[in-house]
Amino acid sequence: MLLSPPDIGPLEESYLIRALRSGWVAPAGPELDAFEAEMAARVGTAEAVAVSSGTAALHLALLALGVGPGQTVLVPTLTFVATANAVVYTGAEPVFVDCDPATGNVDVDLVEELLTELRREGRAVGAVVPVDMFGACVDYQRLLPVCAAAGVPVVEDAAEALGAAHRGRAAGSFGRVGVLSFNGNKIMTTSGGGMLVTDDTALAARCRYLSTQARQPVAHYEHTDVGYNYRLSNLLAALGRAQLRRLDGMIDRRRRLRERYAKLFAATPGVHLLADGDPGANCWLTTIVVDPGQAGWQAAELARHLAEQEIETRPVWKPMHLQPVFADARSRLTGAAQRLFADGLNLPSGSGLTEAQTTRVMSAVAQFLESRR
Ligand SMILES: Cc1ncc(COP(=O)(O)O)c(C=O)c1O
Repeated sequence: MLLSPPDIGPLEESYLIRALRSGWVAPAGPELDAFEAEMAARVGTAEAVAVSSGTAALHLALLALGVGPGQTVLVPTLTFVATANAVVYTGAEPVFVDCDPATGNVDVDLVEELLTELRREGRAVGAVVPVDMFGACVDYQRLLPVCAAAGVPVVEDAAEALGAAHRGRAAGSFGRVGVLSFNGNKIMTTSGGGMLVTDDTALAARCRYLSTQARQPVAHYEHTDVGYNYRLSNLLAALGRAQLRRLDGMIDRRRRLRERYAKLFAATPGVHLLADGDPGANCWLTTIVVDPGQAGWQAAELARHLAEQEIETRPVWKPMHLQPVFADARSRLTGAAQRLFADGLNLPSGSGLTEAQTTRVMSAVAQFLESRR
């Protein structure tokens, strides 16, 4: 049983077949336009630009903001590598920031300290890229004024957070530009794909231009910039439209799953759920955090027990400052991300899990807890 497999049904099939039969088998077409309009309406932004992955969206967002060589970009150390890679693609340097242990989201106090420190050193900061970890929004109430005071734009990496909200506002809508991912394991999928969402019309136009090989609007092939082939296919946009129609139902299922995990672990000392109590979280992945001293067992032992029953779990991301590829990068650390990496575990969270599969997971976890009592 997989951690978060695609949840695909007859609606997706009918949308895809309709798109295929329309003849628009290309990275252009009516499904693409409609998918963008529907996603912009959902997130509450004026613009949306559909691209081939969340990573491509991050890359374009940074480029469109003018991020490049000689600049630094603040990135949480606890994230998937794509967030940091996109910074490196632009020629800028990622600076890693530790997280709030309760949510795994970037520590706003450290962001503030670093912005002051970098300014004092005369270093240019091109952007701050907060990540809404596992579908729970960063505390934007606190982060946005800190970045605004420093005059640094925010690129919200909401790859995991579509459908989540913070104080009534949708994930993706907080920065100058937000980034979504429709990778196969996400809350909704186009098999692979991503989207930029923004209120900035000029920025959206720049991203759209860069995503289609930076072609000038003339009949012959004229180029004044280096562009990218990052546009999403019309077929995949059709798949995305069907998934978007089902998004609220899929989020509900993930939330119910989290409630069941919460009940299951409620009486277990030393175990809590990451970002528990955030009513706006989309519950993309349910993550437990184990205090081995109190619980008497380690997260990795539960992972092994479940793996023996062919139930997939995943560790929380290995922090970027511990990655060999970023060994020389600057970082500001408290140890929180490293502890979550050691003690956290993502549990099966897919919206497509059947009742029988859910019961099997819950029983396997209960059996483990019983054996450790
Ligand atoms: C936080 C985060 N950022 C960026 C990405 C990249 O998205 P994609 O896989 O669509 O390129 C992902 C997921 O894959 C992610 O989890």
